[in-house]
Amino acid sequence: MSAKLNDAALDTIFRTARTQNAWTDQPVTDDEIRAVYDLMKWGPTSANMSPARFVIVRSKEAKEKLKPALSEGNLAKTMAAPACVIIGYDVEFYEHLPMLFPHQLEAKTWFNWSAEWAASHAVRNGTLQGAYFMIAARALGLDCGPMSGFDVAKVEEAFFPEKNIKVNFLCNIGHGDPKAVFERSPRFAFDDIAKII
Ligand SMILES: Cc1cc2nc3c(=O)[nH]c(=O)nc-3n(C[C@H](O)[C@H](O)[C@H](O)COP(=O)(O)O)c2cc1C
Repeated sequence: MSAKLNDAALDTIFRTARTQNAWTDQPVTDDEIRAVYDLMKWGPTSANMSPARFVIVRSKEAKEKLKPALSEGNLAKTMAAPACVIIGYDVEFYEHLPMLFPHQLEAKTWFNWSAEWAASHAVRNGTLQGAYFMIAARALGLDCGPMSGFDVAKVEEAFFPEKNIKVNFLCNIGHGDPKAVFERSPRFAFDDIAKII
């Protein structure tokens, strides 16, 4: 049986967690970043394919490399963030399936027969892993600022010279300054968007 999280934990990962737009000076350490990965990696993916790939942009030099790809609205806050995580996905994830899914050694052939088919799985599962990353970061006391306002081609060219890695979204991480958080936007009520049949 899974244990149910208490209210404080649910607040930390969902109810009071907010998308951050400004950051305190508190840095994000290597140990914290590795701990986030070591938690999120357990989130499920199809055939355990684990297609997400991460580059943590933290140094001044790496930030300068990212800068030209950022939209105007995302520029200042990303340059000021302790780190910006590039969340990508490997469209050739199937090459690793013999290691990742060893009890079905033919699993590679389920995906490698069509680039389009493989990419659809990489996007779906890579996006899930991006979400797992954010939930794990919040669970470990970090704040997140996810972004899709950037030039994907520029980020791929600058950070992923290997052509099999594509970029999904960016996520600033650190300790948020609550002063820059927008008013909470509404969410759909269950009955507006779901039904139990
Ligand atoms: C994949 C993704 C892309 C986003 N892109 C941007 C962006 O480019 N710039 C931005 O300021 N906010 C961006 N956001 C932030 C959303 O607007 C924000 O998460 C949403 O309004 C909910 O805010 P809340 O978490 O504070 O309730 C993005 C969020 C996600 C998950």
